[in-house]
Amino acid sequence: MKKIGVLTSGGDAPGMNAAVRAVVRSAIQMGHEVYGIYYGYRGLLDGNIKKFDRYSVSEIMNKGGTFLRSARFPEFKQPEIREKAKAILAEYGIEYLIVIGGDGSFIGAKKLSEIGVNCIGIPGTIDNDLAYTDFTLGFDTATTTITEAIDKLRDTSASHSRCNIVEVMGRYCGDLSIHSAIATGAKHLITPETGFDKDELIKKLKEESKTGIGYSIVVITEKITDVSALAKEIEEKTDIETRATILGHVQRGGTPTPVDRLLGMRMGVRAVELIDKDVSGRCIGVDGNDIIDMDIYEALSLPNRDKSELIEIFEITKWGIYEYKKNENYLYIGTSS
Ligand code: ADP
Ligand code: F6P
Repeated sequence: MKKIGVLTSGGDAPGMNAAVRAVVRSAIQMGHEVYGIYYGYRGLLDGNIKKFDRYSVSEIMNKGGTFLRSARFPEFKQPEIREKAKAILAEYGIEYLIVIGGDGSFIGAKKLSEIGVNCIGIPGTIDNDLAYTDFTLGFDTATTTITEAIDKLRDTSASHSRCNIVEVMGRYCGDLSIHSAIATGAKHLITPETGFDKDELIKKLKEESKTGIGYSIVVITEKITDVSALAKEIEEKTDIETRATILGHVQRGGTPTPVDRLLGMRMGVRAVELIDKDVSGRCIGVDGNDIIDMDIYEALSLPNRDKSELIEIFEITKWGIYEYKKNENYLYIGTSS
C-alpha cells in the first residue's frame, strides 16, 4: 500500500476533475490510499489535505474547473518553502505526489523531485504549451469554447460589415489561436509563431475591403499587442469599422468535452500505474492515441513544437471569395469563409 497525494495547480483546466477521479478510483482499486490536497502548492503548505475515499470524487467529472481548487503560489520558487512542503508530505506519510498543472507546476514538481519527493505530472492547462505531449487537459474544451464564440462574432461582424479582432488565451503558445482560427475559417491569424506585422495586416484589410467582402475576423494570441488600440488604429487608417473582443477567462470554464474527460481518465490511471510500480519523476502525455510517460527533465527540456504545418493549413484554407474573385473565376456571394 502506498500513500498518494494529488493536487491541481496553476490555471484550472476542464478535464482536471476527470484526472483526479481516475487517480482516486484506480489507486483505491489497487489498494493504495489517496489524499486530496486543496489549492495546489499553497494548500500543501497550509496542510489543506484530506484523505479521500472513492465517493470523494463522485459527481465531478462533468464539471469544469477543479473541485480540488487551484492557486498561483510564487513562493514555491523558494527552496526553503519546498523543503517545508516535503516535511508536510512526510508528516502525512505521503510518499508520492501527483501534480496536475501546466509548465510552471511541472517545474515545481521537478524541483520537488530534486529534493527526493516522488512526483508524477499530469498536463492540465488550456494552453497546450507542453512540448512533450500532443495535447494537455483542457485544450479541447477551450478550443471548442473559442470556436463557438468566434462563430457568434462572425454573425454580428457580417451583419455590420465590420472587422472583429478576437484575442485568445495561450500565454506564449499559439495553439488555441491556430486551432480555433482553422476551425472557424478566420481571415487572419496572429500568434507568437506567426509573428505580427501591423502594417501588413492593415494593408491586407484595406485590400480586402476594396473587393466588397463585408467583414473580417482576426484571431490573435494574447500578450502580442493591445487589441483595443489596434482596432482604433485600423479604423483610423482604413474605412473599416472595427471592434476588439477579449474572450478572457470564459475560455477556461465550462463542462469538459468527452475528449478531455477521456484523456483525464486515461492519464490519471497511467499515473497510478507508474506509482504502483514504484516509478516517479515522470509526466504523462498523449502521443497520437497512445498514453505515454516521459522523464520530467526530458519533457521540460524539449523545444517548442513546430506549428508550420497547421499554420500552412490555415493559410491555404482561408482562401475565400476575395482571392477567387481576384482570379475572376468565382461568383461573389458575400461570404469570406
Ligand atoms: P501553470 O502550472 O498553469 O503553468 P504557473 O506558471 O502559474 O501555472 O505555475 C503554477 C505554480 O507552480 C506556481 O504558482 C508556483 O507555485 C509553481 N511554480 C511555477 N514556477 C516555478 C518554479 N520556477 N519553481 C518552483 N515552483 C514553480
Ligand atoms: O495558463 C492558462 C491561462 O489561462 C493563460 O492562457 C493565461 O495567460 C493565464 O492562464 C491567465 O492567468 P490568470 O487566470 O492568473 O489571470
